[in-house]
Amino acid sequence: MENTDMKQIQWFPGHMAKTRRLIGANLKLVDAVTEIVDARAPLSSRNPEMNSMTRGKPRIVLLNKCDLADERATQLWINYFRKNGAEAIAVDCKSGKGLKSFLPAVKTKVLKELIEKRERGGMVGASVRLMIVGIPNVGKSSLINRLAGSKRAKVEDRPGVTRTKQWVKLDSNTELLDMPGVLWPKFEDQEAAIRLAFTGAISDDILDIETLAMKLLVYLKENYPQSLTERYKIEMDAEASGLELLEAIGKKRGMMIAGGEINTERAAITVLDEFRSGKLGRLTLELPPKE
Ligand code: G4P
Repeated sequence: MENTDMKQIQWFPGHMAKTRRLIGANLKLVDAVTEIVDARAPLSSRNPEMNSMTRGKPRIVLLNKCDLADERATQLWINYFRKNGAEAIAVDCKSGKGLKSFLPAVKTKVLKELIEKRERGGMVGASVRLMIVGIPNVGKSSLINRLAGSKRAKVEDRPGVTRTKQWVKLDSNTELLDMPGVLWPKFEDQEAAIRLAFTGAISDDILDIETLAMKLLVYLKENYPQSLTERYKIEMDAEASGLELLEAIGKKRGMMIAGGEINTERAAITVLDEFRSGKLGRLTLELPPKE
């Protein structure tokens, strides 16, 4: 992908340092870290410093929005994370699908040794504490609401109340630490930033919307050509450029402006909206690196 017209994504070094400190300080209070990522782009939607920040704590990765991701690719990602020392499961926090296996996976896999050790020491049923981390928009609130439902105090919604860390009770002996700090995405890796922009996790305006849609169309042409032919009923030329694809879609949808020109901006908005809402099918934007 070309990076010529990328704008720098703004993030604040002060906030980053504060979040880093918060995670470091609270890590000693928990037994494991739950990391939530977007199943369509599991590496691009991770915080770049997560491994070093969580310093060898047992980890479980939740591949969220699996309803929007390619099932085959999600399985490859699950294998990838498991090979790299973390438990991983696919979940859909919008419908709740897959969440039933979350706590059993924590207790029988991620923290199996610790729980057995505690039991040997006579601490049967001792509380298990988890920290939840994830960059914005991956579905952290949806997850907590699904797991804790109405039990969760909505502190952040009350005006004038400073959002502090909260323990959310998940079952009789499991608590989840919801941290107030915002984790930054992989904004220095421009390809990762573009994938996050495709999903809508970071603002569209890192690139103009037409460039973004054209890059997505080229990726889909190369990886999921059927999703484009089925949705837009366009002829697919293997050599077609992003602009040609965008124009073909605009034309098919009758998106014209005065003078008979195609309204590529409207077409771009449509393509991105339809990708984000799953209308183009279940699509994944990156595969695990070859090992
Ligand atoms: P955050 O706390 O990590 O920032 O994310 P949040 O839960 O607010 O979720 C961000 C968006 O992603 C929300 O959509 C939410 O509904 C959606 N979402 C979360 N989990 C899933 C999932 O597993 N599948 C799908 N398809 N979507 C998911 P929104 O458009 O901001 O709001 P709304 O559609 O809920 O109104």
